[in-house]
Amino acid sequence: MRTDVAIIGAGPAGLLLAHLLAADGVESVVVEARSAEYVAARIRAGILEHSTVDLLRQVGLATRLQAEGDEHRGIYLQWPHERHHIDFVDLVGRSVWVYGQTEVQKDLMAAHAATGQQIHYEASDVALHDIGSTSPSVTFRGSDGRAHRVEAIAVAGCDGSHGPSRTAAPSAGRQTWERAYPYSWLGVLADVAPSTDELIYAWHSDGFAMHSMRSATVSRLYLQVPGGTSVDQWSDDRIWDALATRLGHGQGGWRLTPGPITSRSVLPMRSRVQAPMRLGRLFLAGDAAHIVPPTGAKGLNLAVSDVALLAPALVALVRHGNGTLADAYSETALRRVWRATHFSWWMTTMLHIGTDPFDAQLQLSQLRWVAGSAAGATGLAENYAGLPIRY
Ligand code: FAD
Ligand code: DHB
Repeated sequence: MRTDVAIIGAGPAGLLLAHLLAADGVESVVVEARSAEYVAARIRAGILEHSTVDLLRQVGLATRLQAEGDEHRGIYLQWPHERHHIDFVDLVGRSVWVYGQTEVQKDLMAAHAATGQQIHYEASDVALHDIGSTSPSVTFRGSDGRAHRVEAIAVAGCDGSHGPSRTAAPSAGRQTWERAYPYSWLGVLADVAPSTDELIYAWHSDGFAMHSMRSATVSRLYLQVPGGTSVDQWSDDRIWDALATRLGHGQGGWRLTPGPITSRSVLPMRSRVQAPMRLGRLFLAGDAAHIVPPTGAKGLNLAVSDVALLAPALVALVRHGNGTLADAYSETALRRVWRATHFSWWMTTMLHIGTDPFDAQLQLSQLRWVAGSAAGATGLAENYAGLPIRY
């Protein structure tokens, strides 16, 4: 097969890129390791920042988001006996939307199917070739076992942290920065109306907890657990008891309503940035280039901002043979990636309990400052609601 851009991975980065390219008349072929059903059902992030929503609106992908999503003005930041609302709209004039990544994924899949462009699910043995040349290619085995080769002008590596793209270039040509955190999140979905109107991020000496949501009838909740925790160690009762304690059930009359848990998983926490994000004719986007711990709600949003920068660069390269934006892609994207990496690290280390009681006092002092000072609250609001794509 011949195409303009071979895209590896059909997550949010890969499918949004295909959509943006198609809107500018650039053809692509998407190659995805998993089945369409698996990709559509993966439960992951839930918060869309301001510029993500703006972009989805501009490219006609926000109809269901606007009908079914929920716009939030801010978040609650709390610690024992105190809960403070940080109002992003008042502070920085920007809001965020609660709309599950599963829904974004379904909208992207429907839009992709409507364009009639090629996508190969359940591909195996996916490999990149000649990325240092002007005619790179991707080979894979289709779901029927047949061998395929896609020849392209450029390859977009949108295959997450375990895909082949990020290690496709010689190791001498790339640099990686990493931080592993000693804790994980236990995330649950529950069939119960949320006990809050906006998200609660809670510091507690037992560990961090968060109350998020997916709809008027579905709650999404997270607990800090030690690294290496298995879901089997947490019964439903233990989960609800820990959530009640950490989220402050009874505090100022607030109540947490428990309900049937329908899904649970453990999410390890780490930060990783790889540079450059362009290696010859291979362009990395999303989790293939960087991972953030989820506390700042940035992973999905960074995937979106990467491809918002990458799409015009690939259009200029493919349609006009102009490589100026492509040459600037890595540096432009990394500026924003590092900002989100710092914010995600900052939120994580401010809210998660470690082993040092000195650190705990510093965290409480910082939380009081963030919640109590316009300067502190504005910094959080600006980063959480999201900086402009060309920050
Ligand atoms: P992905 O969504 O990972 O998509 C990559 C795609 O590439 C996948 O479909 C994968 O199947 C495919 N692929 C992999 N290997 C190959 C291969 N060899 N060949 C072809 N295709 C391949 N972020 C938050 O902000 N908040 C959260 O609560 C949150 N929870 C998360 C929970 C989990 C379990 C995970 C894994 C991530 C979570 N994230 C969260 C991060 C967020 O979901 C990601 O940042 C986002 O999905 C990035 O999009 P992406 O398209 O770059 O990568
Ligand atoms: C959700 C996940 C996050 O990582 C976050 O910071 C906020 C909300 C969620 O899944 O709803």
